[in-house]
Amino acid sequence: MNFWQKILAEKKMILALSPMDGVTDFPFRAINKKYGQADLIFTEFASVEGVCRSTSTKILNHFDFNDAQRPLVAQVFGKTPAFFKQAAVLLCELGVDGIDINMGCPAPTVANHGSGAAIIKNPELAKELIRVVQEGIAEWKNGLELKDCPDISPKTVMAVADKKKNFALPDIDRKKIPTVSVKTRIGFDHEEIDTWLPHLLGMRLVAISLHGRTLKQGYSGKADWSVIGRAAALIKKEDPSVVFLGNGDVTDYEEAMEKVKQYNLDGVLIGRASFGQPFIFLPKAEREKALAEKNIFKIALEHAKLFEATYPESEGYKFLPMRKHLAWYTKGVEQAALIRSELVRSNNSLEVEAVLRKYKLI
Ligand SMILES: Cc1cc2nc3c(=O)[nH]c(=O)nc-3n(C[C@H](O)[C@H](O)[C@H](O)COP(=O)(O)O)c2cc1C
Repeated sequence: MNFWQKILAEKKMILALSPMDGVTDFPFRAINKKYGQADLIFTEFASVEGVCRSTSTKILNHFDFNDAQRPLVAQVFGKTPAFFKQAAVLLCELGVDGIDINMGCPAPTVANHGSGAAIIKNPELAKELIRVVQEGIAEWKNGLELKDCPDISPKTVMAVADKKKNFALPDIDRKKIPTVSVKTRIGFDHEEIDTWLPHLLGMRLVAISLHGRTLKQGYSGKADWSVIGRAAALIKKEDPSVVFLGNGDVTDYEEAMEKVKQYNLDGVLIGRASFGQPFIFLPKAEREKALAEKNIFKIALEHAKLFEATYPESEGYKFLPMRKHLAWYTKGVEQAALIRSELVRSNNSLEVEAVLRKYKLI
C-alpha cells in the first residue's frame, strides 16, 4: 500500500497542502505540519532544467524537508525528458515520498517555454515525461548512482549528501521508491478534460490533482467544481486505481469534506487559504480549540525564527520572502493595516518580535 492509499484507508479523505512557488518552502511547511497537520504536503516546484544545468545548487533548497514533514511530495516542472529522469534519481536519493510533475502552471515564465500548463497542448510530451520519471526511479531502484547521471554535477551530488546529513534524512534504501503523480488544470484555453485526462490515464500514475481552472483563466473567476466532478467520474471509470484530488478555492476542512462527498473525490488540495492560517486543515472543533488556545502571532514569530535558521543570510537569503507571511498572519486583527505596514519592513525575527510586542500581540 502506498502512502496515498494508507491515508485514504485511515481517513477516507486526503487533505493536502498544495504546492506554491515562493510559499511552501521548508519553514512554511514545518509550521503548517506542526499546527495544521495536513495529511500530505507538496514542496514548491523546481525546474528540472535548473536542477541539471544551474551552476548553483540553491535550487535544491526547494526540496528541503525532514521526517516531520512526511509524507512529502516534491514537485518538478520543465520540458526536457533527460533532465526529468535525472531529477527523479536525485529525488530518490533524497528520499522523498512522491514526485509530482507540474502540468498546470500558467505563469508565462513557465508556460511560454512549453512547460507547466503548456504541456496540456502536448500530450505526447506529457506521457514521455511520466515515462522517464518512472524509468529514472526504476533504474535508481536497481542501483543507478546519482553521480553517474550525466547532467548532475559533482557539486550537486555533494549538495544532496549534505542535505541528507543536515536534515537528518535516513540512509538510502532502494526498496523505498517514490510515487509518481501529476498536477494539472482542466484545459489550456477551454475545458478539455475528456480529451486531456485520457492521455494521463493508463500511465501508471498513482495520483492526479486537478485545479478547476484553465491555463487561460490563470487565477481569475471561480474554479469549476462540476468539471472536477466529471473528471472524477471519468477517472473512476477508466483507471480506478488512480487517487484523484480536486483543487481550487477551498477554504477549510469542512469545505474540503463537502467537495469530496459531492464530487466523489479521494481528496482536496488547499493552497491560498492556508496563507497565515495553519489551522484550516483541522476539523472545526479542533480548529476552534486551536484558535482559542494558541496565539497566532507566537506562531508567526516561530515561523520567522525558523525562516532565519533555515536560510541564514550567509547563504544569500534575505528576510524578504518571510515578509508576505507576516502580512498574512495579521488578517482579521484590529489595526491590521498599521501592523502589517511595520511587519513588512522587518529585516529579522528580532524586529518582528519588537513590532508584535509593541502592539501587544504576544
Ligand atoms: C503563489 C502561488 C504559487 C503557486 N505555485 C505553484 C507551484 O509551484 N506548483 C503548482 O502545481 N501550483 C502552484 N500554484 C497553484 C496552487 O497549487 C493551487 O493549484 C491554486 O492556488 C488553486 O488552489 P487554491 O484556490 O486552494 O489556492 C501556486 C499558486 C499560488 C497562489
